[in-house]
Parts: sequence; C-alpha cells; structure tokens
Amino acid sequence: MQLLDGKKTSHEIKQEIAEKVRTIKAEGAKVPHLAAILVGHDGASETYVASKVKDCEEVGFTSTLLRFEADITEEALLKAVEDINDDVDIDGLIVQLPLPKHISVQKVTDRIKAEKDVDGFHPINVGKMAKNLPAYIAATPYGIIQLIERYKVETSGKNCVVVGRSEIVGSPMSILMARNAYPGNATVTLCHSKTKDLNNIIKNADIIIAALGRPEFITGEMVKEGAVVIDVGITRVADETKKSGFALKGDVKFDEVAPKCSFITPVPGGVGPMTRASLLWNTLLAAQNVIYKS
Ligand code: GUN
Repeated sequence: MQLLDGKKTSHEIKQEIAEKVRTIKAEGAKVPHLAAILVGHDGASETYVASKVKDCEEVGFTSTLLRFEADITEEALLKAVEDINDDVDIDGLIVQLPLPKHISVQKVTDRIKAEKDVDGFHPINVGKMAKNLPAYIAATPYGIIQLIERYKVETSGKNCVVVGRSEIVGSPMSILMARNAYPGNATVTLCHSKTKDLNNIIKNADIIIAALGRPEFITGEMVKEGAVVIDVGITRVADETKKSGFALKGDVKFDEVAPKCSFITPVPGGVGPMTRASLLWNTLLAAQNVIYKS
C-alpha cells in the first residue's frame, strides 16, 4: 500500500509555483493576484478563505480579500464581482461558497469573467473541461488529477467508481476520468443517492473516488484487493479525546480499507492540501493567460 501524500505533493507544487514567482519578479513582470470574496461569517468559510490568503503569501502572490456582511444585496455583490472583472491588476477571483440564501450562486458564478474564474465553476469553464479543451478545472478535481499524475497511478481501462455527483467534485471528476487523456481513459460509473446495488458496484472498482460527505461510509469489505482509493470527504465528528472536541473523518474507513489498497489518500493530508495547491496553480495560469490566450 502506498499513501497518496497530498501534503507532501502540495508542498512540492507550492515550491514550483514560488520558483515561478521568483522568475516573474526577476523579469520585472506583474506577480499573480488572487481576489477572494467572503460573505458573512460562516466558520468553515472563514477558515478556508484565511488558508487561501496564507497560501498566496507563501508562494509570493498578491491577494485581496473583500468581506461583506451576510445582508449584502445580490445586486451589490454582482457589482463587486464586476468591479473585480474590470480590475486589470486582478488575475483570478473566487467567491467563497456557500452564499446566504437570498443570493443566487448561479448568478454570481456566472457573472465572474471566465478568464478570471480560477474556481472553474463558470459554465464556460465547465463546458470546455467537458469538451477536453483548455479550461480552469475546479480545484478539488484538479488536485486529484495532479495527485494521480504525480504518483503515476494507472487509469487507462480501469473501472473507476465515483461516489457522489456534486457539481464541484463528483460530476467533474467523472468527466475527467472518462476523457481520452491521462489521467483518464477509465470506464466510469457515477453513483449517487438513487444508485441501486452500490456495494456491488464499489466492490468491482479498480479506482474509487469517494465524495459523498458521509464519514467512514466505505468499509473494508466493500473494497476490492488492490484498489486505488481517493477520499474527498472531510467531516467534523465529535471526539472528546481531541483538544478541539472534534476529529476530521473521511468518507472511507481508513484503518480497514488501507491494507487492501495499492494507493490511498489519507484524511487529513490527502485531497485537501491538493485542492489548495490547485487554486494557486489556476491563479498562476490566469496571470500568464495560458488558458484563454487567443
Ligand atoms: N466552498 C467549498 N468548496 C469551495 C471551493 O472550492 N470554492 C469556493 N469558492 N467555495 C467553496
């Protein structure tokens, strides 16, 4: 069993990005600039955005954090997005989700210029990704792809089962693993809450990508010997033995599943840090106009 070490790999990616920033600076060019919009005071969102800002500092990017109260109108938020769209110094923009209920996520993500949509949520980027054209790929799927690539995990002709069909992870992951590329060329099954006979489908998988958000859902007996297991889940579960009062649990029962695997991601330290590194990578691509150069 080999660990797909997201912590180590993301550290390597960050070093590569930092090196590129040093070259950019030495050439007197503009350093990449990421803007993040945070609405309200959701605890998890505060943590995520703070990490993103810290990551930018670490690699030498400029970052701008725009904070709004939860009662901001949809119109005012859309105007803030447009102002950033028009700001030539800013290369990438993310609007941290979730947003308050009175604001349409669709409207907000659609308003971000596709060229600055480093989250890869805009329909233009989703469409281009599906057509295997250059596009910003959402950070979690992109992080998984990079992890598979860097560990040279074989995917061609494999049975890949994606559990969970979220717009941000499961759905794009299923498209990426099926496309005619590496990583890809897998035979993909996308499972969700209406799937029948889930256990049998998982049991036949060479590659399992678990992104359903149910702690320790996938147990040892559900997994085939030699499988590759990517665990996207990260749920806070009460744990009195921890100082914080909670433990972070993946969708996979690691202790049972790991001994059967050829590769597996730990939680924490697997997909999570790769997601963070991928946002930086997308921002670098945005600054260099790699994806949308005409
Ligand atoms: N909320 C949870 N995941 C994400 C993400 O990848 N991007 C943004 N903007 N918000 C999120």
